Amino acid sequence: MAVLLLTSSVLLAILFTFSAAAPPQPLISRIAFGSCANQTSPQPIWDAIVNFKPQVFIWLGDNIYGDIRRPFKFFGNERTIGPWKNVPRFVPSSEDEMRSKYNIAKTNHGYSRLRKISKVLYLPQKVIGTWDDHDYGLNDAGKEFKQKDTNQRLMLDFLDEPQDSPRRKQAGVYASYTFGPEGREIKVILLDTRYHRDPLRSDGTILGTAQWTWLEKELNEGPSAITIIGSSIQVLSNLSACTGPLFYMESWGRFPSERKRLFSLISDSKRDGVFFISGDVHFGEITRFDCATGYPLYDITSSGLTQAVEKVIPSFLHFVLQFLAWLTPTTMRVMNKNCKHKSCTYGQPNFGVIEVIWDANPVSLRFEVRGVSGEAVNSVSTSLSELRARNPHMKAGDRKHCSLEVDLPWVVRRRLAILFSSFVAGYSHRGSVYVLKG
Ligand SMILES: *[C@@H]1O[C@H](CO)[C@@H](O)[C@H](O)[C@H]1NC(C)=O
Ligand SMILES: *[C@@H]1O[C@H](CO)[C@@H](O)[C@H](O)[C@H]1NC(C)=O
Repeated sequence: MAVLLLTSSVLLAILFTFSAAAPPQPLISRIAFGSCANQTSPQPIWDAIVNFKPQVFIWLGDNIYGDIRRPFKFFGNERTIGPWKNVPRFVPSSEDEMRSKYNIAKTNHGYSRLRKISKVLYLPQKVIGTWDDHDYGLNDAGKEFKQKDTNQRLMLDFLDEPQDSPRRKQAGVYASYTFGPEGREIKVILLDTRYHRDPLRSDGTILGTAQWTWLEKELNEGPSAITIIGSSIQVLSNLSACTGPLFYMESWGRFPSERKRLFSLISDSKRDGVFFISGDVHFGEITRFDCATGYPLYDITSSGLTQAVEKVIPSFLHFVLQFLAWLTPTTMRVMNKNCKHKSCTYGQPNFGVIEVIWDANPVSLRFEVRGVSGEAVNSVSTSLSELRARNPHMKAGDRKHCSLEVDLPWVVRRRLAILFSSFVAGYSHRGSVYVLKG
């Protein structure tokens, strides 16, 4: 009897000790991410995302299309285009409209399945995210946008952010998460590129003072094997440098000083294993810049879950877009034989994937853009030892992606505009003059 009592109290003591200790953090080796999801359009891509069994899913913005887009109209009472335009093309929705749009997105069948599998794992939050302009509330909007605080609350409700979360009290939705056991941590830093952003063409700030201070602290504290920085807009590619004056995209490249500051911060923090993920542009690509820190910086862009450039034109013209994408010069895009198209861009709906093979030596990483049936359409394999300052692979000859788009010769850089204007000139001599004047 005494022996029995003793044994059971020992057992109890052991049980107690174990339950008092923090549960071990599960190892994370599969992360998926995506952006640009029209809530009222079918979203078949969730099947492929669920099949990938991501342990974490990251929203990179345009998680809903919250603003109202008026059609292009040259004539009539409400003209949205041309020099005689009298109403803006995009207008914000009311709070109720925003809420109901988020509801549609949240109850989407495929997305609900993803949220359910996420609850199976012991993680504080399995689906995380930041926003871009259309879910912030208005196309291309920045700090001047009036409804930003209301929309911040709605966005955090959508992500099931706890009511007492500090994220509900700060100005902007930036946040950071650390997953995984000691020594194999993955840190995810999500930036807010909207709430504090100065106007385009100002070369002002994207992040604002408080977020910069926070980011500096995040990059300098506690090590993590891998650090993923999520930015709604592209960090590396500066497509505008080669598509202007025809059209311009938002990107960190449009804020050169701010971008330089970001690279210096990463470099000064001496943090290894940092890379970016981004969305926004309605196509997928993987880019790389070798001269910002002591090792290659990658930016895996996936856009969008439903919104994609090829979807807006008839399929027999897709080859034209692919040709133009191939023709548009780039200095950062990774061109390899794993691409579905010669251009190494992908203009159909897609999602992004990060896989970590922790048991490999050195630990290896795979970045992919995947299409609706889960097939990889762009991919890059690298390893943690390559994402390390002073790595042996970074000899001068290996720095392939070091020049900026703006440093390309004029005729190369303006190739697209030249082609376009000569095409237009073929029809009318006046057309080309307008295009070049932009
Ligand atoms: C979203 O999808 C609906 C239905 O297909 C369409 O009417 C609407 O224009 C789309 N919105 C955007 C921003 O593409
Ligand atoms: C990106 O391109 C824009 C437009 O050509 C240019 O003003 C800007 O300086 C470029 N940024 C970088 C970092 O090259």
